[in-house]
Amino acid sequence: MQKIVMAITGASGMPYSLTLVQELMRLDVELHLVVSNAAYKVLHLESPEYEEVLGLVEHTYRQEDLGAPMASGSFQHDGMVICPCSMASLAAVARGLGSNLIHRAADVALKESRRLVLVPRETPLNRVHLQNMLAARDAGAIIMPPCPGFYNKPRDMQDLIRHIAARIMDSLGIENSISRRWEGG
Ligand SMILES: Cc1cc2nc3c(=O)[nH]c(=O)nc-3n(C[C@H](O)[C@H](O)[C@H](O)COP(=O)(O)O)c2cc1C
Repeated sequence: MQKIVMAITGASGMPYSLTLVQELMRLDVELHLVVSNAAYKVLHLESPEYEEVLGLVEHTYRQEDLGAPMASGSFQHDGMVICPCSMASLAAVARGLGSNLIHRAADVALKESRRLVLVPRETPLNRVHLQNMLAARDAGAIIMPPCPGFYNKPRDMQDLIRHIAARIMDSLGIENSISRRWEGG
């Protein structure tokens, strides 16, 4: 069974994170989930049904819980994703601040050379955001802005969301078929 650490931070894009949680649970992934304090505010606004979805997850943590397993390199897992990733959390990861559980777990993933996927959301991007993305990439993170492709002719918002969730799962090495793949054309 694959073991994944996931963090939800306070950027827009909660439908991506909830779809990702649902799909990971459906695939029986052992999910360890941290939700930042700011993320709860955005969840209330964007996806008021969030409690039902997050209630599916057995292992959940608050950002203050620096004693949680993923704060240590001895906790083995198959990868971490921060979805969505706020510019504040991107900065903290890029600069190695380990002052909350999300930033510490990301720092640990990088030092242990484990997969770390960041799904940053802001627009437009200023120079600091761009420099932080480059720094995080140089440190080993995968930077995956949620930019869906339109070549598969999405019918609705859920198609676009699933497309991004599928690409994130691909990056985490989780087999999935939740979105149609390009087969050439
Ligand atoms: C409704 C709402 C939407 C937000 N959207 C974004 C966003 O898309 N990108 C971003 O970087 N910050 C966004 N923010 C600001 C972050 O929540 C804020 O910077 C926060 O400190 C991030 O903390 P965290 O990274 O610990 O979750 C938003 C805040 C609110 C209330």
